[in-house]
Amino acid sequence: MKLVRTIHELRQALEPLRHGSEIGLVPTMGAFHEGHLALFRTARDECDFVVVSLFVNPAQFDAADLDRYPRDEERDGRLAADAGADVVFAPPPGEMYPPGYQTWVEVEQLGSILEGQFRPGHFRGVATVCLKLFNIVRPSRAYFGQKDAQQVAVVRRMVCDLDLDLNLELRVLPTVRDRDGLALSSRNVLLLPEERERALALPRALATKDPERARELLSGLDVEYVEVAEFEPRVLVAAIRVGSTRLIDNVVLDGEAK
Ligand code: PAF
Repeated sequence: MKLVRTIHELRQALEPLRHGSEIGLVPTMGAFHEGHLALFRTARDECDFVVVSLFVNPAQFDAADLDRYPRDEERDGRLAADAGADVVFAPPPGEMYPPGYQTWVEVEQLGSILEGQFRPGHFRGVATVCLKLFNIVRPSRAYFGQKDAQQVAVVRRMVCDLDLDLNLELRVLPTVRDRDGLALSSRNVLLLPEERERALALPRALATKDPERARELLSGLDVEYVEVAEFEPRVLVAAIRVGSTRLIDNVVLDGEAK
């Protein structure tokens, strides 16, 4: 596996594959868990060449959240290599947003509800970095987790609205959960044991697939929203805060993904 830091190096590595090879892209922010590894392994099975991007995108965080986000690039590199990545693209922030940078992608309606309401600007950062990564890598398939259902909806809308859909398939894989039901997230390591216990109310509430019942089961916790969202597929989504950690999760109400 090759580690590359610059767009130029990545383009050079991909140049010989441009004709006839299927390139898979797994966009990530590192701090890998089994959910990421499932994306890498599927990309490995389905594509000739797998690029994992590892970039904690400052444009999608507020400053305090950005500082707290877990990072362990050495461990991530090993895990990505073991799961079959060919290249890990880990640029410094200045490579993605050089001085003078001023172009942003805004998915207006889908980007401003739910997560967008509680994290203003978040999806502008996500859509922008995803479009940049799609332009740099030009993958045949890009891999995302259903855990971030709204992110998938936003990226799908952008791909359609900006006419990228002829060349790019979005692959969305089911949420991976711990044995106790908690959806895997890089932020779970920030939970204290007692907070983790309280966080289990989230998957339990969502498992009812009933917004009223879910709200009842979450009462007493710091709940930001519990709503049915008309994404594809339709989901019951929720966000809560446990201590200083924010957790999101969803269950599919119809369709095939879990
Ligand atoms: O889900 C994530 O890890 C990020 O939002 C993504 C898609 C890598 C964009 O920074």
